[in-house]
Amino acid sequence: MQISKIASSLGQSATLKLNELASTLKKQGKDIIHLGGGEPEFDIPEKAAQESLKKINSKRVIYTPTGGVSELKEKICQYTFENYGVKVSPANIVVSSGAKQAIYNFLLCAVNPGDEVVFPAPYWVSYTEMVKLVYGQPIPVKPSKGLLCSFEEIESHITSNTKAIMLNTPNNPSGLIYGAEFIEKIVALCEERNIFLLMDDIYNKLVFDGFSVPSAFSFSKKSIDESNIVSVNGVSKTFSMTGFRIGWSVSSKTMASAMTKVQGQITSCPSDLSQAASVGALTEGDAFTKRMIKDLEDKRNALVDELLKIKKIKLEKPQGTFYSFADFSAYNKNSSQLSSELIEKIGVVTVPGSEFGMEGHLRISFCGKKEDIIRGVKKIREYLDGN
Ligand SMILES: Cc1ncc(COP(=O)(O)O)c(C=O)c1O
Repeated sequence: MQISKIASSLGQSATLKLNELASTLKKQGKDIIHLGGGEPEFDIPEKAAQESLKKINSKRVIYTPTGGVSELKEKICQYTFENYGVKVSPANIVVSSGAKQAIYNFLLCAVNPGDEVVFPAPYWVSYTEMVKLVYGQPIPVKPSKGLLCSFEEIESHITSNTKAIMLNTPNNPSGLIYGAEFIEKIVALCEERNIFLLMDDIYNKLVFDGFSVPSAFSFSKKSIDESNIVSVNGVSKTFSMTGFRIGWSVSSKTMASAMTKVQGQITSCPSDLSQAASVGALTEGDAFTKRMIKDLEDKRNALVDELLKIKKIKLEKPQGTFYSFADFSAYNKNSSQLSSELIEKIGVVTVPGSEFGMEGHLRISFCGKKEDIIRGVKKIREYLDGN
């Protein structure tokens, strides 16, 4: 019996591998500080808890329409109008089992075998593997300096085989935001060349220092139903509800209906219970997220203060998300080696930059406890600088 070529070609998720290693070492009684996480340590919104309980108490948790219940779709339409300034109808929305499924639905509907999908590095670890899963060609583009690509760097990788550009801003792992001018040019390029633009907006509310994330829709010359922009969002990060597995896409009706068809053959529908909880979360809205942002901003500041004490690192201060992506190449150019060394020698978990298409860096999260962040980075400094 042979496993398929496509399954054999996939890499195991580095972050999940690290989580497993950290919990094994913890069980062995080792003092492990986990700075590799990807979810906020925040209780879920009160209304999300209430709506979940209400649903459970109804004793009816069943299949829903494939693209989501109308109450949640209505809430998402309202959310899209308030946060993106674009009026959409429920037929433009597909609710899915996490933003990850929304991206995967999109790729299945956009990409033919051999088509190229262009995205800037550093990129979220799953992009390359998801594109491979639909038999597409991932084309990561590395910035010549810093952690953000210029428009020209992206443009120079567009060929007649390019089917889509994927953009995640603020970015996992760098925490940096692509500016309005860049997004405007990317939208224009996609419209001129008839290329899909997947905006991975999963962190777009988690921004600090008064920054805001430009909405790609605001630069489009097309109506939503002619648009080649597909925006993906969800409750995982904004509402600290990773375990509920609810994401969604906003796109033209044609794309939404194709994505619904695909989803219907894969998962039938997102969880009824989780959709009820998400209605609660969206009802609670910004009041919840603002509290979380304040907490994350404080942790970001503590992390940056500690990181800057490490003599030879280079750091671009994160503007959003809960990740930092510092350049440790002056200590070790091989990020996997350095990350493993930090776990083995001092029990601090980080994620190697190689997983995000950028060697020499480490992703260090600030979604955990503040005291762990400070203690963990201090241990890294003492290990690397000897003081
Ligand atoms: C950039 C990015 N996009 C999408 C996702 C997927 O989110 P979800 O948990 O809703 O599937 C993640 C999760 O870590 C992410 O970092």
